[in-house]
Amino acid sequence: MATEKNEKMEQIVSLAKRRGFIYPGSDVYGGLSGTWDFGPLGVALKRNIIGLWWKLFVEDREDMYGVDAAILMNQKVWKASGHVDTFTDPLVEDLETRQRFRADHLLKDAGFPVDGLSLDQMTQLIKDNDIKSPNGNALSEVRTFNMMFKTTVGPIDDEASISYLRPETAQGIFTNYKNVLDSFYPDLPFGLAQQGKAFRNEISPRDFIFRSREFEQMEIEYFVDPAKWEEAFEHWRQQVWKWTQALGLPDENVHELEVPEADRAHYSKRTIDFEFDFPIGKEELLGLAYRTDFDLMNIQNATGRNMDYTIKGTNTKFVPHVIEPSFGVERAIMAVLTAAYTEDEVNGETRTFLKLPEHLAPVKYAVSPLVRNKPELVAKAREVYSALKAKHGAVMWDDNGNIGKRYRRQDEIGTPHCVVVDFETLENNTVTIRERDTTEQHRVSIEELIK
Ligand code: GAP
Repeated sequence: MATEKNEKMEQIVSLAKRRGFIYPGSDVYGGLSGTWDFGPLGVALKRNIIGLWWKLFVEDREDMYGVDAAILMNQKVWKASGHVDTFTDPLVEDLETRQRFRADHLLKDAGFPVDGLSLDQMTQLIKDNDIKSPNGNALSEVRTFNMMFKTTVGPIDDEASISYLRPETAQGIFTNYKNVLDSFYPDLPFGLAQQGKAFRNEISPRDFIFRSREFEQMEIEYFVDPAKWEEAFEHWRQQVWKWTQALGLPDENVHELEVPEADRAHYSKRTIDFEFDFPIGKEELLGLAYRTDFDLMNIQNATGRNMDYTIKGTNTKFVPHVIEPSFGVERAIMAVLTAAYTEDEVNGETRTFLKLPEHLAPVKYAVSPLVRNKPELVAKAREVYSALKAKHGAVMWDDNGNIGKRYRRQDEIGTPHCVVVDFETLENNTVTIRERDTTEQHRVSIEELIK
């Protein structure tokens, strides 16, 4: 079973590279661990996913506001938020090679439950069970490792110029809560949404884009009356299901995990991890957390600025509490590719195709002339291509190889419809449309197609 799963992962990684979705970062220079580059189709898929999220959770709602904060932030942000002190993972070192690993990952791989274990308990388990590094060598004691990338801002390299690449987009939202309140004075509850890059110096990035050092998040901080946090939490729990369904993920492959207190982030009073059946196993896709007033109170205490919200027309004021649905873009992409990756048999041959929902497919239509050496066919096909492209944008011209090869290529990138202009087109202005999922072909008039 494990081999089968690894095989599926390898097939997805290979297809992603071969067909221009996702390449290893800095590949031509030998790579840079934990970084990935998105090719033409990958960036299209990514933008479709981000666009869908923005539409569902910002544009389609009256209670949401978008922000786009700077990635570099004042170091005080990360001190007040607790990230400087507590944003750590358990690290263990190979005593021979000095290579470093995530202690909890090694224990999990060796079959031990790791939830809630302290550093000392992990060290003890490693000793008691003689767990070795993946190189077969003895391991050090387990210690903490801060995952933030440190840098300096400006020409002077001193304590005051230290900054960090943000490890979550959330803090860029909290720091703008007061600004948006002053500009818009929204009714409570309301939310702020941000999508953008986040950086974590993961000890061992692995599993394709699942755990990278540079990735993207789509986060919502939803500000509520503290007495009503449970209602809002439940609302967002339902919204998360709406999201996974919009991504085309089957409900039976998405699972809720109520995270026990010992495993929750330092700011959370309740967390549900939404897990997905990835080829690497059941792993976290996204998280839903009740962050209380932890972050706004930290800002208030650190800056002296008042973070109260005053209920309109009353003197009732309080610091709102926060519900945070936090979505990872790369994990959404990996889940979508996993759900879409399909093999079937056509004419006795195995066919691989991506059964992507049409609204996520990087290319909606591919247009071909049946043959390339008939100028009148090519000209007609170009006409159809231009008209479709003007309407849908995401339309590909594909005249490479024979028609069978084109279909296979388009299947692999998840194009729902292939349009072929043939000799009959010249007679009656109809074209063949071949459907990805069924491989069925039917004829329609060009007029109808464009409509
Ligand atoms: N603001 C809350 C927060 O950052 P998190 O559970 O640490 O919570 C949220 O991260 C989501 O970000 C995860 O559920 C996952 O989708 C994504 N994510 C976190 N670390 C990641 C990594 N190293 N690589 C890819 N995605 C990651």
